[in-house]
Amino acid sequence: MSIHILAIESSCDDTSAAVLSDNYLLSNVTASQKVHESYGGVVPELASRAHQQNIVPVVSEAIKQSGLKKEDINAIAFTRGPGLMGSLMVGTSFAKGLSASLGIPLIDVNHLQAHILAHFIEKKDEDHVAPPFPFICLLVSGGNSQIVLVKAYNDMQILGQTIDDAAGEAFDKCAKVMGLPYPGGPVVDRLAKEGDSQKFKFCKPHIPGFDYSFSGLKTSFLYTLRDEVAKNPNFVQENLNDLCASLQTTVVEILMDKLKKAVKETGVNHVAVAGGVSANSALRAAFEDHSKRYGWKIYIPKFAYTTDNAAMVGITGYFKYQDKDFCDISLPPYARVEI
Ligand code: KG4
Repeated sequence: MSIHILAIESSCDDTSAAVLSDNYLLSNVTASQKVHESYGGVVPELASRAHQQNIVPVVSEAIKQSGLKKEDINAIAFTRGPGLMGSLMVGTSFAKGLSASLGIPLIDVNHLQAHILAHFIEKKDEDHVAPPFPFICLLVSGGNSQIVLVKAYNDMQILGQTIDDAAGEAFDKCAKVMGLPYPGGPVVDRLAKEGDSQKFKFCKPHIPGFDYSFSGLKTSFLYTLRDEVAKNPNFVQENLNDLCASLQTTVVEILMDKLKKAVKETGVNHVAVAGGVSANSALRAAFEDHSKRYGWKIYIPKFAYTTDNAAMVGITGYFKYQDKDFCDISLPPYARVEI
């Protein structure tokens, strides 16, 4: 008999609910919060309030679209962390209340693991190739940049991670300096298409191992703009496409250099990418290029599963359900955690 999981994601500024039947996605509904755009970043208190407004209609819609009734659901999976504490509290409390009222188990999900396991979501009538174990996953989002060795659904090892900013943060902060709206990553990606990626050179970090650093790039980007704008006040407007293309190329080169090193040293050549920044067209192109040049078997998620979504929480919940890995109603959310 199939297992039906209702999943809830509320770690940052997207309220999302999904229903899965085993590893098949039946529905995935997300309400994004536009309220943060005018602030140039996510305002935690506003995010929590918007989650409170969105959670009931989003969960109802996900159940409705799945074609199931709430009595058909076998367990509720929810993002326990990492994320913004106020945002997590909303999803966690809702999941606990619903599981208690329906008398079904509760499954806590690590948001970072969920991004990686998004590769295992299947949908009726859609082609799908999941990576075999072990594989390496480049996890790049607004809050994280990690290289993870994935040995099994429930066995992951961080090989390297950022020691300061995340790749998405570098995109967003540099975009803000150029006066672009939040989140800047997709805007930089779009503007970069018309730009010269070699026009400007920005600083790349020299740190050992598989760790990343993006704070030096951010500073070098800021100083370039400061010096050039002092000479020409229209510098940013006149060079916007080239600045975006050069920034994007530098971020992608930093990401791929360490990833290439990790693939070489581990000998694992099944390589996946996950997280919001995996929507980036230059990063996707770099994966295709490395596949051709070095024989990597690559796994790139569908756009719908790159940014925060409950489908990925649901697939993780499904694997944990099979292990009977349920959680107690007393467990609190956590703002920070490793994989
Ligand atoms: O995974 P995600 O939705 O949220 C976190 O858990 O952080 O990732 C959001 C990040 C933002 O920094 C956003 O600018 C970035 O993903 N992003 C992109 C693109 N689409 C989203 N960065 C570069 N290029 C894109 N096309």
